[in-house]
Amino acid sequence: MEKIIVVEGGHPLHGNVRINGSKNAALPIMAACILMKGKSRIRNVPHLADVKTLLEILKDLGVKTERLKDDTLELEVIDESNVTAPYEQISKMRGSICILGPLLGKRKRVKIAEPGGCVIGVRPVDLHIKGMEALGANIIKEEGYRIGSTNGFRGAEIYLGGPYGSTVTGTCNVMMAATLAKGKTIVRCAACEPEVQDLANFLNKAGAKISGIGTSELVIEGVEELHGIEYEIIPDRIEAGTFMIAGAITGGEITLENVCLDHLTAVIEKLAEAGASVSFASGETGGKCFVKGSDKFRPLTITTLPYPDIPTDMQAQFLALLSIANGTSIITEKIFPNRFIHVAELNRMGADILIEGTRAIVKGVRKLSGARVMASDLRASACLVIAGLVAEGTTEIRRPYHLDRGYEKLEQRLSALGAKINRVTE
Ligand code: EPZ
Repeated sequence: MEKIIVVEGGHPLHGNVRINGSKNAALPIMAACILMKGKSRIRNVPHLADVKTLLEILKDLGVKTERLKDDTLELEVIDESNVTAPYEQISKMRGSICILGPLLGKRKRVKIAEPGGCVIGVRPVDLHIKGMEALGANIIKEEGYRIGSTNGFRGAEIYLGGPYGSTVTGTCNVMMAATLAKGKTIVRCAACEPEVQDLANFLNKAGAKISGIGTSELVIEGVEELHGIEYEIIPDRIEAGTFMIAGAITGGEITLENVCLDHLTAVIEKLAEAGASVSFASGETGGKCFVKGSDKFRPLTITTLPYPDIPTDMQAQFLALLSIANGTSIITEKIFPNRFIHVAELNRMGADILIEGTRAIVKGVRKLSGARVMASDLRASACLVIAGLVAEGTTEIRRPYHLDRGYEKLEQRLSALGAKINRVTE
């Protein structure tokens, strides 16, 4: 029996929602525990399928893992003998490639299944491999696995620019591997995303020497060892952006708590340009953001680019919003050029979107109408939920498990804001 999400459109969202810790910061930070001696306590780790998958991988790699209360994870390496991450595990989540750098950096050996592509594109790992080789690893590809070893990493100068800019997880991998290398590593064209910064701050607290954090040039002075620490993960900027658009599109008025507003500048600018009203205040645990929707939005021109520009992980949600804007919008995808599978589903709901290469031309329609649609990935699912919230009638979203990879209890939190949304067994 299949689960589906059923959304009844037309109910404006009102009230407060607390934003959870960042998935994409939590994953590399959890993997970085492979490098450490002693126990680390990581707070604000969301309850997500991707976190669970990585925990399983880490357990098999000899990391003792425990979930404490208050979203805290405790991680400690107790056995360093295993260095293999099999296909069954890696194929569940592409982000698990973030164990490559820590395994080679600490255990000096790795055998990891090639993550392969996914529904948002081909997703090569050549830059990760280039980084590891520059530090001194010998890596071969055999029967779908990358098998690597090193006699010990030595600092190097590494350029991480690829055809679509830098690489987020590739930068994380090189940074983690270089913390225990002998000498200095300089990473040029490093990714500057807040999640990369969070990992660097975590590593520094654990004893690493990383400078240039938040810039495109990272300098890492190798140290002898890293030790376990307590750390709190940053709020999830993509979850925050998703709630902002959900609140705005329904013409509602919501308050987001625990948001890092600096991480959302481009998203907030674009929302305001479209006609939503967005204002801020500081809260005890992080910033607060007030979002008020509108009954008609202006069209936008959006290009997804590396941070601090509009994130590719917000493209699908903006597409839902602009599908009912008053005019024609253009969204250009510059990170994952084929990340448009959700368009066919939005069109099924009455949207008028044409894909031309890496560009979506979105002719705003007066209304969307509920339909049976299929979720294809995490952010595509969020896009369909957002569209369902404003569509006339009922939307049924198949394959809702994609949502659980990146949004904790999304239906419950939207329901608390007044949405009519449920997960039911078909
Ligand atoms: C991270 O993926 C995020 N995942 C993605 O979030 C996010 O969309 C992406 O960064 C871009 O911001 C995690 O953090 C777990 P990249 P990552 O390497 O690191 C090309 C979500 O929905 N490239 O920065 O895998 C690549 O094909 C997910 O939460 C190479 O050419 O992305 C892409 O075009 C989806 N060679 C561009 O670089 C490489 O070796 C950026 O990819 C690596 C990447």
